Amino acid sequence: MGSQYVLQLVKTLPVEAVNYPLELSIVVPTFNEVGNVGELVERIDRVLDGIEWEVVFVDDHSTDGTWQRLTEMAQGDRRIRLIHRIGRRGLASAVVEGALSTSSPVIVVMDADLQHDETRLPPLFAAIAHHGHDLAVGSRYCAGGSTGQWDEKRVGISRFATRVAAPIMKTPLSDPMSGFFAVRRDVLLDAAPNLSTIGYKILLDLVASAPRRLDVAEVPYEFRDRTCGESKLDAAVALEYGELLLDKLIGRYVPVKLLMFGAIGALGVLVHLAVLGGLLHGLSLPFAWAQGGAVVTAMTFNYALNNRLTYRDRQRRGAAWLTGLLSFYLVCALGAVGNVGVGSLVFQSMHHWWLAGIAGAVVGSVWNYVASAWFTWSR
Ligand code: GDD
Ligand code: MN
Repeated sequence: MGSQYVLQLVKTLPVEAVNYPLELSIVVPTFNEVGNVGELVERIDRVLDGIEWEVVFVDDHSTDGTWQRLTEMAQGDRRIRLIHRIGRRGLASAVVEGALSTSSPVIVVMDADLQHDETRLPPLFAAIAHHGHDLAVGSRYCAGGSTGQWDEKRVGISRFATRVAAPIMKTPLSDPMSGFFAVRRDVLLDAAPNLSTIGYKILLDLVASAPRRLDVAEVPYEFRDRTCGESKLDAAVALEYGELLLDKLIGRYVPVKLLMFGAIGALGVLVHLAVLGGLLHGLSLPFAWAQGGAVVTAMTFNYALNNRLTYRDRQRRGAAWLTGLLSFYLVCALGAVGNVGVGSLVFQSMHHWWLAGIAGAVVGSVWNYVASAWFTWSR
């Protein structure tokens, strides 16, 4: 009985310890990292002795059991929290959501896959908490840092991405592509209204969105190899990087999603013509049938590409992919009615066939963009 009581007492001690003011919150975005999250928390716990920390996982409804594992972990330890997002994807938006969910004065952003060196956490924290910097960046490109086992091609891509980012960076950084950094809470809040939260590069987004040049410290680290699970970096992530840059440059005037939608629409016109030609000359179909086939193919093409690229952050999958396609057909059908209607009106009043054609097409396209954003890809 007695020893059990002592054991109970010892067990309650860490709970008291968490009542000290929170000093550091580590925000970790996860998608399919079930084999890494347990080890990550153990490592964090080992290196952050004497600092009051919490870790906030932001999981986008992983399919490998990550959120179930995180729920369990959070049940057993108050320092672990989970934000579970359903129907949304995106590293940058996950990070911002996690960061805004904490009251901690210092926030670190870190990957779950153990590629970021956790022994750099104390110097990142100290740079903000003790040395008064706004931002502390784990850098692979400053003295003492390294990209580890990366091959030449990946180093080249990373360096190229760094170079094209220069025009939007108010604060020069040796490694703006880094996903490992610490920031003071008020600095993040000041930048928050301007954040694009597109794609992967939340650090770059942050320095481009901050209303002033930031006081930065760089902490070198070596990027480790991933041993468990796989990277989510793919061609679409590269495209999202372009979107982020574009949004920072001209997003104030034109929404980037509108530009993407328009570019894909232009490609759709080419698909339409190719299919029309093929059906007419290859299969010798009557014009109306060939034109009909081309319209359906082009609409499907537009839908699939916009779903995969423009609306990647709320991509429709499985059965929802099909119902989305049907709703897109409906939107486009109404757009075509508007197109013909407006075109006819303009033609009646002005008698310019090409002006009327363009007016109809513009109205139809804008309708398709607005209505599909609201109807097909509603949040
Ligand atoms: N919530 C959420 N949603 N998390 C995501 C998503 C998503 O859509 N996509 C990726 N993650 C999580 C991963 O689970 C991992 O913890 C972290 O974000 C980084 O993803 P990786 O797929 O491992 O990316 P990487 O290693 O190729 O890229 C990393 O290194 C780059 C530096 O080269 C990231 O840290 C980049 O931000 C960094 O720029
Ligand atoms: Mn990784």
